Amino acid sequence: MLDDGHLNLMSHDSFANGVPHKTFARMRREDPVAWTDGDDTARGFWSLTRHADIAAANRAGQLFSSAQGIRIEDQSHEEYMARRTFQETDAPEHSVTRRKVNPNFAKPTIAKFTDLVRELAADIVDKAVQSTEFDAVDAIAKQLPMMMLGRILGVPDADLPWLVEKGDALIGNSDPDFTQHVVDKMDTSAFRMMPFRSPAGLELYEYAADLLANRREVANDGILARMMRDDDGLDELGFKNFFCLLVAAGNDTTRYSIALALSLLAHDPKLITALRTGAYWDTCADEFIRLASPTMHFRRTATADVEMHGKTIRKGDKVLLWFVSGSRDETMFENPHEVQLGRTPNRHLAFGQGGAHVCLGMHLAKLEVRSVLEELVKRIDTMEATAAPTWTRSNFICGVKEQHVRITRV
Ligand code: HEM
Repeated sequence: MLDDGHLNLMSHDSFANGVPHKTFARMRREDPVAWTDGDDTARGFWSLTRHADIAAANRAGQLFSSAQGIRIEDQSHEEYMARRTFQETDAPEHSVTRRKVNPNFAKPTIAKFTDLVRELAADIVDKAVQSTEFDAVDAIAKQLPMMMLGRILGVPDADLPWLVEKGDALIGNSDPDFTQHVVDKMDTSAFRMMPFRSPAGLELYEYAADLLANRREVANDGILARMMRDDDGLDELGFKNFFCLLVAAGNDTTRYSIALALSLLAHDPKLITALRTGAYWDTCADEFIRLASPTMHFRRTATADVEMHGKTIRKGDKVLLWFVSGSRDETMFENPHEVQLGRTPNRHLAFGQGGAHVCLGMHLAKLEVRSVLEELVKRIDTMEATAAPTWTRSNFICGVKEQHVRITRV
């Protein structure tokens, strides 16, 4: 669909050719607290699109609550209780689980993975560049997040392709390339108690049940074993949902950040030359993640009436924090649509920075993006796109699904 500046954010088709940046730019300029009407699938919602407003709402977790759902979908209380994870709770409940899982994601823990991530990245790129033409998403971007998800969870490598396929089906539940149960094209009410209203959720629940029953291998130092050892931690359903959250959150987001970086490199040879100078390794990952902002929004629910920019958001209304828009707000970022590898400071919002739910995986994600690019530019002289990128059909997760490239090796 052509972005004329007025695309409907409720429609997944509005995002099928990439993020409608013109629409977001107009909203930031003219209608920063915008109302979108509901349709057959969900009630209407408010959209916050300016950096300052998103950051302020994200900080005000009691007023803009996560505890009634974090996506556009409306859930009954029963559905919410069946599917919620700690991401769908507020303080103080949220803080209890967050404190428990945090050590596995903290900067010093992730720093210990540096050599492993680099070795894996080198191996992935070595394999990819044996061909001169390939799909960079499949051959490169998809691989490292999948392998590292296995290390974080503590599950065997052999299970990873299956887990990733199920994770794709959850998070890509509106894209026919990822699921046969496209949420806005068929009646998915039979799966309303499953994560993302998806039958893949049921299969992941079964995997998690096997873990709990010791029918599957799990590494002792992974996050799953840590949660399983915790006697006053998650109950069985809580553990299953936690497992689904990690499979969904820890995979596609980083893949799509690497994928956008590769797509941009394939369209602008100057970027490879610049990266090879070595001057941008501390800053480039944040810049590519800013531009990708793959989880485009998370939702909150207003717990009281709020006045913003002359509009009244009523108690109970859904409010979307469009991180993807805030990360390209021209009042915060000079030439926001341009890649500036050395952009400093880079106060993007792709990880939900400033809120209680700020991404746990951000240190890992940045390390992965950087490592893949470092290993890639050591091995190639040029990389050009041989086709236009294709994009996910989703108003929640945005990503380059395919980017065919031709390379020349060093
Ligand atoms: C570039 C990659 C990534 C991006 C852009 C991203 C984005 C986000 C965002 C925007 C949030 C905040 C949600 C909210 O405000 O409600 C979040 C939370 C979260 N992310 Fe990430 N993420 C990425 C990678 C990862 C990875 C690799 C993992 C795990 C291995 C992960 C696990 C989580 C978890 C568990 C939460 C929930 C935290 C909480 O509710 O306290 N993410 N992520």
